[in-house]
Amino acid sequence: MSMTISTAFTELVGCRVPIQQAGMGAASTPELALAVSQAGGFGMLAAAADDLPAEVDAMLASSAGLPFGVNFLMPFFDRAMLDAVAPRVPLVEFYWSDPDPVLVGVAHEGSALAAWQVGSVDEARAAADAGCDLIVAQGIEAGGHVRGTLGLLPLLDGVLDAVAVPIVAAGGIGTARGVAAVLAAGASAARIGTRFAATAESGAHPAYKHALVAASATDTVVSETYSEWWPDAPHRALRSAVDVANALDDEFVGDVGGAGDPFPIPRFAVRPPNRATRGRIDAMALYAGQSVGAVTEIAPAADVVRELVEGAEKLLTATLGSTR
Ligand SMILES: Cc1cc2nc3c(=O)[nH]c(=O)nc-3n(C[C@H](O)[C@H](O)[C@H](O)COP(=O)(O)O)c2cc1C
Repeated sequence: MSMTISTAFTELVGCRVPIQQAGMGAASTPELALAVSQAGGFGMLAAAADDLPAEVDAMLASSAGLPFGVNFLMPFFDRAMLDAVAPRVPLVEFYWSDPDPVLVGVAHEGSALAAWQVGSVDEARAAADAGCDLIVAQGIEAGGHVRGTLGLLPLLDGVLDAVAVPIVAAGGIGTARGVAAVLAAGASAARIGTRFAATAESGAHPAYKHALVAASATDTVVSETYSEWWPDAPHRALRSAVDVANALDDEFVGDVGGAGDPFPIPRFAVRPPNRATRGRIDAMALYAGQSVGAVTEIAPAADVVRELVEGAEKLLTATLGSTR
């Protein structure tokens, strides 16, 4: 794909199109991050990977200098891992804790850019004050854990007024229309989670991907159902999965295979099913945003990037053209 849309985000991070793939635990495989970065967007690895340094090695070896980042989910934060990767990756990003200037400083000392995903205007101000180079504003339409209480557009309005750094809009964006809307509103990029979770390169379990294809925009719900290992944290998931989990009465609903002994999965585990998970996939944490209505097939990630960017460019050109 040769299309380029230049924004403050693309200029800062050095990619060609204003699409950031969300860090999504085991769904964000190196294959997914690489495919997104090669398509001109910005791929993300998850710090919680089984072997993050090896994933970073693989990305550095195959990305030919294309930018990518690592997402740290703060309830599972490992400071030694941040120290290890900050000097080696273009961007590190944090989610689900108060923005911390010390951690931003570690990123910068390692020569990485620092980003924080936030759910409120106050949190965006704190991220800017902490020295973040860019901020992800997450509306409640988002799949996975939901940090704030505002829909994306009101949140974006407040955040764009409050801080000067580039803003990435997240939550419920699954179509070119959504991408065009947030760019027109002043965001510098769109962050896409659910649509990438359903791509060929994603590490999500195949049955999870199929459930995303089958679901409509109205089929998600915010709850605290999947609270084992991470309590008091609202998250948006497929309602069907929440209903099945609540209807079962087993202590465990499956396990994760791998090199060692199978690891049992409690019924309300926070962990979404990956390729190595076995058991009642339909009862597990099938995180999905309101963007899930845009998931109609399991496509290669590059096709998703192309669809979103080409469509957004046409819409923005048509809108601007009609106002001249
Ligand atoms: C399966 C899944 C896992 C997620 N895991 C994380 C995560 O580990 N770290 C993080 O910062 N955000 C995570 N998120 C939230 C995303 O960063 C983002 O806010 C969200 O996906 C945007 O909404 P969308 O899913 O409608 O595109 C996750 C989202 C999904 C769908």
